[in-house]
Amino acid sequence: MANITVRNMRSFSVFTKFTFCKLYSVTQTTNNPMNILLIGSGGREHALAYGLHASPSTNNLYAFPGNPGMRGITTIVDSLSLNDSATITAFCHHNSIDLVIVGPEAPLVKGLADDVRKNGIAVFGPSAKAARIESSKGFSKDLMKKYGIPTAGYERFTQEQSHEAHAYVNDRALPIVIKADGLAAGKGVIIAETHHEAHEAIDEIFSGLFADAGSSIVIEDFLKGEEASVFAITDGNSAVLLAPAQDHKRAKDGDLGKNTGGMGAYAPAPIVTEAVMQRVQDEIVEPMLKAMREEGYPFVGCLFVGLMIENGRPSVVEFNCRFGDPETQAVLSVFQGDLAKLLNSAAIGALDASAMESRAKGFACNVVMASGGYPDAYETGHTIIGLGKVSEIQNVRVFHAGTKALSDGSIVTAGGRVLGICGLGETLAEAIDNAYNGLIDIHYPHRYYRTDIGKKGLNVTNP
Ligand code: AMP
Ligand code: GLY
Repeated sequence: MANITVRNMRSFSVFTKFTFCKLYSVTQTTNNPMNILLIGSGGREHALAYGLHASPSTNNLYAFPGNPGMRGITTIVDSLSLNDSATITAFCHHNSIDLVIVGPEAPLVKGLADDVRKNGIAVFGPSAKAARIESSKGFSKDLMKKYGIPTAGYERFTQEQSHEAHAYVNDRALPIVIKADGLAAGKGVIIAETHHEAHEAIDEIFSGLFADAGSSIVIEDFLKGEEASVFAITDGNSAVLLAPAQDHKRAKDGDLGKNTGGMGAYAPAPIVTEAVMQRVQDEIVEPMLKAMREEGYPFVGCLFVGLMIENGRPSVVEFNCRFGDPETQAVLSVFQGDLAKLLNSAAIGALDASAMESRAKGFACNVVMASGGYPDAYETGHTIIGLGKVSEIQNVRVFHAGTKALSDGSIVTAGGRVLGICGLGETLAEAIDNAYNGLIDIHYPHRYYRTDIGKKGLNVTNP
């Protein structure tokens, strides 16, 4: 139902915009609704598709490779190759694509944004050089140190320096954090409670546990506090900060169990007060953008700032070069404004802050439904029932993350994180209730979810 309303609204606004542009001829071309290609297939991209579909600035929206949840709000394209950017640029030229939005980090790190941009097409997403802030933790730490951006103290070691790494941890306070330098699917971080664990972690990483990602390491002091994620939409010069969110990375309730890609998120997170947001803008985002400009690789896209906040003081745990997952599902569900216009303005180097009317209307809580066993081994191919019923519930959005459509029309599980059930509400408590009421009717064998997503945001009185 909600989709139909949004579609009708969009068609109307597209029509009026089109008429307006015709009247005011070519000087208004930037106001023409755009043809957009969205790259990615997860819950994050489904949430982006949802927001772009609702944007008055969107004309045709394509998704590659997309997912079954995006049908009806995008045209799914399956004939391209992420390893061959020429297929993507050819598609863009053929379909008059105005803007390409890249969701995941891997293609950005490989240079997809550079390749597409070289062909004269606007891209929301950083160059390969700028994406190193995610693909090399050491690189990102060195940049923060050089430009005085608050983060934990650290040292870097290569495999050849393993002796020095072991000696270094002996002198440091516990706990201590050992990180593989490269991309390790969120698994390359070990928080050692004892020196013995720290030595083991160094040996494990250097023995090839994370392949090339572990050929060098960062050893970092432990930061105390509460974690939060802030997304800065930037054209490389200035930035618009979206609603702050909190992820839940551990597999089990109470932040216990193994680290996962994220079991749920909510926004806005009250721990990130307006005063903290201002500090994030002044002490982290702006200095980082300036640093990247000065170093010769300006960052265009979504700068993900992973924060630790202690007594109202934010420090950087990590930077990522793209939107977070599952935070985006909550952040974009409360966003008010024209998402396509905002992202395009960043991509063309003319950030239009007025495209965001407000960071947040109400609250959103996105609960991830996973396959039993995740983040370890899990089964796939189980039929999911109840999706139709949930789509009729007001104030609940279902985002597909790991699903597949079969030729008989059924939808089956196809990943560790299967769905995100996102409840909306005027209060956080209402958003949480709506999310959990929504997922009651969704069934598949061995479904698993945390029962405490968003609870840490209730009763935040003295951040
Ligand atoms: P990262 O991949 O760097 O974001 O690290 C994954 C997770 O490890 C973070 O979300 C934190 O929960 C934790 N972590 C990483 N670095 C630190 C640190 N210096 N102090 C405390 N916790 C950390
Ligand atoms: N939710 C954490 C991430 O996207 O890296």
